[in-house]
Amino acid sequence: MKTNTFSRIGFILAAAGSAVGLGNIWKFPYVTGENGGGAFVLLYIIAITFIGLSIFIAESYIGKEAKANAASSYQVISKTNNKNWRWAGFQIFAGIIILSFYAFIIGWIIEYLIISITGLPTTIKEAEDTFTNLITQKIGTQILFHTLVVATMVFIALKGIKAGIEKLNLILMPLLALILFGLLIYSMSLDSFGKAINFMFMPDWSKVTVDSILAAIGQAFFTLSLGMGIIITYSASMGKDTNFIKSSVFVAIVDTAVALIAGIIIFSFLFAAGAKSTAGPGLVFISLPLIFSEWGIFGQVIAVAFFCALLFAGITSAVSLVEPSVRYLIEKFQMSRIKAVFYTATFLWILGIFALLSMSADYGEMLTFFGKSLFDHMDYLTSSVALPISGFVTCIFLGYFVDKNVLKTKFTSVTSVAVFNIWYALIRYIVPIAIAILFFNKLGLIG
Ligand code: PHE
Ligand code: NA
Repeated sequence: MKTNTFSRIGFILAAAGSAVGLGNIWKFPYVTGENGGGAFVLLYIIAITFIGLSIFIAESYIGKEAKANAASSYQVISKTNNKNWRWAGFQIFAGIIILSFYAFIIGWIIEYLIISITGLPTTIKEAEDTFTNLITQKIGTQILFHTLVVATMVFIALKGIKAGIEKLNLILMPLLALILFGLLIYSMSLDSFGKAINFMFMPDWSKVTVDSILAAIGQAFFTLSLGMGIIITYSASMGKDTNFIKSSVFVAIVDTAVALIAGIIIFSFLFAAGAKSTAGPGLVFISLPLIFSEWGIFGQVIAVAFFCALLFAGITSAVSLVEPSVRYLIEKFQMSRIKAVFYTATFLWILGIFALLSMSADYGEMLTFFGKSLFDHMDYLTSSVALPISGFVTCIFLGYFVDKNVLKTKFTSVTSVAVFNIWYALIRYIVPIAIAILFFNKLGLIG
């Protein structure tokens, strides 16, 4: 086999590429807007530091020790080598389901990239219709771009870890940083910049509810790509000289920085136009295009830059979602990489088409059951059910089914005893309890 491990910088960039995604540039700003700004940002930072980072470190450890796919990894390092731990691999499947819709959402971004060039909507009605029409009417366009995105992922995945994933991130991540930096500088020149900073960093505690605390924890999970075997799989290809604690901290910092910067940029733009911060998911696809169009030709340039940033962030995340399944199939069935990529891609391509059809005007009804569209079911079953469960499983696994002395030895070879003790307490008690509360609340059983 070709050398299929990451270089040190390659691993860090790829993990950061997976983390930095639509969650940072699309979801974080609108969730912050919906939850009143500053106080939510603070809760989010706390959730990342204590919950997100400790699970990130946990997944990183599991992958790097086991050097296997995200299913066998659990078995390999469990105290008793118990075969049942392989079931933790269900998260690989959750990842593929997420990817099937992540792919066509990236497709929407491609459509908006084109709209940015050919002409942006000029009234709020037109902006809303553009978005609604895309989702409910333009099936052909959506399938076309969905296919294009899946094909891109196949192309990268076939090249493997080093020549595919690492190289892609080596190119796209610096470009993404450059665009965001440029947009940040531009937002600083707007009068509304100060207002955006205030909105994001002056906590208004009256806005904090149980829901916003839970939203912060949920977002911490999603934004760091946890609970889908991604970090385990990437870490299994980590080079020997990579410090898994340092790289985890670094990725969490980069991911948080990008979310904050995206928030500052977007709120500066919104406030400059006197727009509201509470538009929800339509923030990026409805509110922003309208503002860009008010800025004329220059606005189109900004729009292209913005949607390129979103596209690059999305692609590097999408690519990371393919690898857990590919590695699993290769190891479990001794498949060739080509076959593994082919099966994975075909499955998610078809599932994605059904999901996008479930939101269309013509086929929506056929693909709606128990009162929700297929897409809503997929989103709910993964983000609200599978992800918290797999985070919980990972905590319980390391906290109770892996030898503490082994963990301690491995951790203290790269960090202090104090850091290990804090991490261990978090993983064993605090994080599983937090996840359990989150989980039961989302299911509507408490709160
Ligand atoms: N972390 C990515 C983001 O913030 C989302 C993602 C989730 C990517 C799961 C891969 C897997 O957008
Ligand atoms: Na993220």
